[in-house]
Amino acid sequence: MSNATPIRYRLAETTIDQTDLEDLCAWLKTNPWLTQGPLVKEFEHGWANWIGLPHACFVNSGSSANLLMYYALIVGERLANQKVVVPAVSWVTSVAPAIQLGLEPLMCEADPDTFGLDPNHLERLCQEHKPAMVLLVHVLGVPCKMDEILALQEKYRFILIEDTCAAMGSRYQGKLVGTFGTMASFSLYFGHHASTMEGGMVVTQDDDLRDLLFMLRSHGWTKDLSPEKQYSYAEDFDIPVFNRAFTFYLPGFNCRATDLQARLGLGQLKKIEHAFQRRRENHRKYQELIGNSEHFQCQHNPKAEICSISFMALAKDSEHRTRVGAALKEAGIETRPVGGGNMSRQPFWRKRYGVQTFPMADRLHDAAFQLPNHPDLSLHDIETICSVVLGVRT
Ligand SMILES: Cc1ncc(COP(=O)(O)O)c(C=O)c1O
Repeated sequence: MSNATPIRYRLAETTIDQTDLEDLCAWLKTNPWLTQGPLVKEFEHGWANWIGLPHACFVNSGSSANLLMYYALIVGERLANQKVVVPAVSWVTSVAPAIQLGLEPLMCEADPDTFGLDPNHLERLCQEHKPAMVLLVHVLGVPCKMDEILALQEKYRFILIEDTCAAMGSRYQGKLVGTFGTMASFSLYFGHHASTMEGGMVVTQDDDLRDLLFMLRSHGWTKDLSPEKQYSYAEDFDIPVFNRAFTFYLPGFNCRATDLQARLGLGQLKKIEHAFQRRRENHRKYQELIGNSEHFQCQHNPKAEICSISFMALAKDSEHRTRVGAALKEAGIETRPVGGGNMSRQPFWRKRYGVQTFPMADRLHDAAFQLPNHPDLSLHDIETICSVVLGVRT
């Protein structure tokens, strides 16, 4: 028998509750369309409405959302060259499409305040390489330094895309993250701000990119485009009417999500503002208690309203983190290293590009840890968690 302390506070809890499941069961009994159908469209409209952009494309994961953003820029011939900047502290599928699609990724150091893209290093990369595109990640929901990054975009004219997979509902100067780039991705995986079991979304205001996303999501055909666009593609390639529905204009993927997921997603949107509010309050409490401690370095961005997926703290060193980890385990509180850590330390990168040094991202890789934040946690729960963390001597 194991003596392990039972888990009291999980890092993430499901956002799909009993009412959602009952709704899903009742809906299933109506014998609805189950693959991508009318509810996917309805969910996309709901999402676009929530974020205030004209287009949303629902896919089967946040990773697929990232893949489609990259590939839409390639097939849309938007990239002036092959060079793309990716953040050191991110996720494998924020970076992997650049490798998979034959681009040249350049890794950018982590900013000491936000732990996202470091604008100083980004400027050096821009001067040296003139990248065609920059992908940023708002790490765990803390917005990057957007004023600085947008000023660099103005100066160096790169295309900006946002990986907002863990940052739904955060704002920078009052503006939702996900509305700064040419496109932005979201994840609807378990434990994210909203969940459809698995799922992802791309948003954009660009009509042509929207069409490319819809085509790439589904085999490269035009079935999700307006009748006029379908007609125009078919005419351009002189496709006989009989063949039109099964004509592949692009080398597409199948990244579709289903109406079943969309049904869940529509339910998630109904309660999202409450979930945002709870995450923000919890995050503020963490900042007040751990963010002000001299023993930990935490993310901050004074221009942001942070709706985090999890709270991150950076311990003095890895030995300090080990002791914090042990105390948390003993108290039944889940923890983990931060996101995927420093991507340049991951074998998939090291094997291809060798060992690179990013002092800030390396520190985060070695000594940062995540703490639970989700709508079910009360401020009292956060205080309990913080007291365990702060009780560990440095
Ligand atoms: C920053 C970031 N990008 C992309 C992803 C991938 O999302 P998914 O798990 O839905 O594929 C994640 C997952 O947590 C993430 O944190």
